[in-house]
Amino acid sequence: MSRYAHITGWGMAVPEHVMTNDDLAKMVDTSDEWIRTRTGIRERRIAAPDESTATLAADAAVEALKVAGVRPPDVDLIIVASSSPEHIFPATACLVQDMIGATKAGAFDLSAACTGFIYALNMAAQAIRTGNINTALVIGAETLSRIVNWQDRNTCVLFGDGAGAFVLQASDEPGGVIDAIMHADGSGADVLMLPAGGSKLPTSADTVAHGLHYVHMEGRPVFRFATRVMAEGVTEVLDKAGFPLEKVNLIIPHQANVRILEVAAKKLKLPMDKFVVNLDKYGNTSTASIPIAATEAANSGRLRPGDYVVFVGFGGGLTWGALLAQWTGPLPERPEISPERYRLWAKVRSAGLRLKRKVMSKVSSSENMGG
Ligand code: ACO
Repeated sequence: MSRYAHITGWGMAVPEHVMTNDDLAKMVDTSDEWIRTRTGIRERRIAAPDESTATLAADAAVEALKVAGVRPPDVDLIIVASSSPEHIFPATACLVQDMIGATKAGAFDLSAACTGFIYALNMAAQAIRTGNINTALVIGAETLSRIVNWQDRNTCVLFGDGAGAFVLQASDEPGGVIDAIMHADGSGADVLMLPAGGSKLPTSADTVAHGLHYVHMEGRPVFRFATRVMAEGVTEVLDKAGFPLEKVNLIIPHQANVRILEVAAKKLKLPMDKFVVNLDKYGNTSTASIPIAATEAANSGRLRPGDYVVFVGFGGGLTWGALLAQWTGPLPERPEISPERYRLWAKVRSAGLRLKRKVMSKVSSSENMGG
């Protein structure tokens, strides 16, 4: 019997603080007019000091679990795609696992820049289809505000913070993730990167003095690349699936720049109203932009059960990908659950485990010392 990976839950979390283009114009030599006409962005959300990639990811995850009616302990796998993970290691996904009380889940991060959510969705769907797991949480989460140079007008006007999450569940009913394509071109690694802080260029006073711990981007080559692969990605995934473009109800693209989307729409000969666009409100939230756009589309009724949707994205790497899915919605047997209660319990559990670890390490060190 065939198994299918259905998208049964969705959720998003964005910081409360709104930074408008006018706010930015007070910080760098730019204007609302320049940002709006060149990118389509009007405002973005900026994380508060007590928010992080993991806390936003956990908030989005809890929303998605609620929609799906899935208890955190029933999640088998958590993948967090992020361009601004909490640490190089441990994975942000492990922190989310602990925060939401997903006691049985494996957890890892996936690094494919803004294409990360599509890669992660495809990986989780494959794990479900093969029968390896039943339930996955796929999250895109970012606090890009922490890694952009607020004095560089070429980059700081583009990005924002936020998180989005999907729950994927196995079912014998046809639907859900249908097909996907994933591509990379590492020869373009240098046009969009975070130069320092990894093993090649560990953080030092020198890297900080030269601003190498900030996002570096060459806008024009990225723009050219993006306009090519957005349309190509959609066409390729539909060709692979043998699915006609006319039957696609909605395209949910990575939200980087409305001009990129207009070029893609023109190449595909599609009207712009086939595309979900919300970058005016959030800027480019990298891996989070697709699940945030999907969540808003689903919650407003624009994306309905049974609809065929293409997710398409591009980003650093360079990477790009597209995924065709039939939107499902919650499975029929959906229990009412309170993920907030699980979160509280997860906090207590985590504190208990930390205490136990501390006590055990004290006991074993005194045993080793012959105490
Ligand atoms: N305000 C005012 N002027 C600006 C600003 C700003 N914020 N930023 C750049 N300019 C200036 C430039 O300095 C340049 O001035 P110059 O002609 O005197 O040198 C002028 O505006 C034009 O600059 P361009 O780079 O040609 O502007 P362009 O129309 O290409 O728009 C942009 C720039 C918006 C960055 C565009 O190239 C773009 O969107 N590129 C793709 C970026 C992208 O999608 N990145 C995300 C990838 S996904 C991921 O993995 C994170």
